[in-house]
Amino acid sequence: MATVRLQKINKAYIKDQLVVKNFDLDINDGEFIVLVGPSGCGKSTILRMIAGLEEITDGKIFIDGKLVNNLPPKDRDIAMVFQNYALYPHMNVYKNLAFGLKLRKYSTQEIDERVKRAANILEIGKYLEKKPKELSGGERQRVALGRAIVRNPKVFLFDEPLSNLDAKLRVQMRAEIKKLHRELRTTMIYVTHDQIEAMTMGDRIVILKDGEIKQVGSPMEVYQRPANKFVGSFIGSPAMNFIDGIIKNGEFIAPGVNIDLNAKDRLTDGLEVSLGIRPENIAINQGNIEAIVIVTEPLGSDTIIHVQIGKASIVIKHPSLTILQTGEKITLQFESDKIALFDKATDEPVDI
Ligand SMILES: Nc1ncnc2c1ncn2[C@@H]1O[C@H](COP(=O)(O)OP(=O)(O)OP(=O)(O)O)[C@@H](O)[C@H]1O
Ligand SMILES: [Mg+2]
Repeated sequence: MATVRLQKINKAYIKDQLVVKNFDLDINDGEFIVLVGPSGCGKSTILRMIAGLEEITDGKIFIDGKLVNNLPPKDRDIAMVFQNYALYPHMNVYKNLAFGLKLRKYSTQEIDERVKRAANILEIGKYLEKKPKELSGGERQRVALGRAIVRNPKVFLFDEPLSNLDAKLRVQMRAEIKKLHRELRTTMIYVTHDQIEAMTMGDRIVILKDGEIKQVGSPMEVYQRPANKFVGSFIGSPAMNFIDGIIKNGEFIAPGVNIDLNAKDRLTDGLEVSLGIRPENIAINQGNIEAIVIVTEPLGSDTIIHVQIGKASIVIKHPSLTILQTGEKITLQFESDKIALFDKATDEPVDI
């Protein structure tokens, strides 16, 4: 087990083109950290720098307090699990699990003990004689996890390990990796572009955009108090709605919207803001905001309703089955304590 400290990390593959910018993060011993962000934001690059597979342009990485910038990957005591499993096709599962240990010259007995222990934890004991091609995607991914576990590393790194699996298996493996973390209590750094994986798995989530940290916090913190519009729109599904408007006499004003924020003394007149409201915090058939129904999507347990308010397109998540006609006029109410405001000029949240 180990702490991982990333200090002002910068990375440029091409001179002067930074793909990771001033990345600063302290990861606690035994923590499950998720790096999440859109494609190309630098997630894999950060993971590969921690593993030692990629040179660091600037900054320092410490594992357990020890500077590792110049330590080769094999000496960092880190195990990495990739999206594409990377199993040896001609070896059976047992040999796939044992291979890395053999290279490191462990005794046959030690290898056997470690392989059996990992197989036991992952419940793959009955596949040990099988070749990867005889396994399902989920079973293969479990073997890939096993190969990391047998090494008993200080830190596990995961790079989108579930993205090749179908939706149902992904949910199952998500739970298994969480369980693995509870059992092993090893520090884990997990990369994904899937905000649901981030929300359900992370002790803390690091949200990245264009190589920069946009927010670090627990799943509930980033969900309830997004530090900027990007985080608000990235975390949560369907995404947070935004309406651009202006503050006047403590009220939020936009075409078709007039909300008294009861904050006359605190909000500057004329301030240009974006109002953020989550789809589940909008009630229908009450309040005084007029909207026109564009389309309804019944999901069984709840209904997604797309509406238009003035110029803004808004998505509502209604907690029961409702069928509304396209073009129908309805009224809406935003839950007042769930409204977020962001300053248009700075993208920072505004206290209400
Ligand atoms: N070997 C490389 N040489 C040059 N540029 C690279 C290299 N690897 C990555 N990049 C660039 O660095 C940026 C970050 O890439 P990275 O692979 O870290 O993103 P990512 O967040 O993992 O994306 P994805 O979700 O698609 O896997 C991208 O703009 C990418 O094009
Ligand atoms: Mg990647």
